[in-house]
Amino acid sequence: MSRLRIAVLASGRGSNLQALIDARAAGVFDAEFAGVFSDRPDAVALQRAAGAGIPRQALRPVDFADRAAFDDAFFDAVAAVQPDLIVCAGYMRLIGERHVVRFADRMINIHPSLLPAHPGLHTHRRALEDGVRRHGASVHYVIPAVDAGPVLAQAAVDVRAGDTPDSLGERVLAREHVLLPACVALIAGGRLRYDGGRVVLDGAPLTRPLQLDSDDRLTPAA
Ligand code: GRF
Repeated sequence: MSRLRIAVLASGRGSNLQALIDARAAGVFDAEFAGVFSDRPDAVALQRAAGAGIPRQALRPVDFADRAAFDDAFFDAVAAVQPDLIVCAGYMRLIGERHVVRFADRMINIHPSLLPAHPGLHTHRRALEDGVRRHGASVHYVIPAVDAGPVLAQAAVDVRAGDTPDSLGERVLAREHVLLPACVALIAGGRLRYDGGRVVLDGAPLTRPLQLDSDDRLTPAA
């Protein structure tokens, strides 16, 4: 199998991108960063890409006539680096259906909740308002409906008495930084793929998301 080419899409601070960069350097997975793409030229993620010598590109939505025109240009730029895997790591724009379909079998997203609970924004605050005891993060394949694609893996954290959205969010983010590289490792190693709407692990359909355990390993749900 040839080396996986990864494109990362990010709008902001890029801590998940950094986790991927660090994990690759540490040998967690073997892959090549084909490019980092942002809708915000000032995204810290782009500075992180520069620091790691990864090609990067930013396109501003205001420079295009409408959403569709932006998406066309943005995803043509992504396609030009011929990625095998596109990782949405804090990419804060809705992606038009045409481009989701175009990359249907190779686009994943990290979301800060235990999907299907809390899709959308402000997940930590909403989890606390709902009084859940467990919260966390999910990595899922991207489908046209937002935060609704098949989940490949999750990392859970316990909600503590006195948690604020910030304190809870910090603990979730720390687990995201392990979860996302672990998912990429499975894909880069050829063990996990998305096939006909199903996540397939080691040749068998995955019926429930893998769980990140306390040893930082992805294991089948109990
Ligand atoms: C993360 O919480 C991720 O789950 C969500 O956006 C945030 C991005 O953070 N999709 P960062 O830019 O990777 O630091």
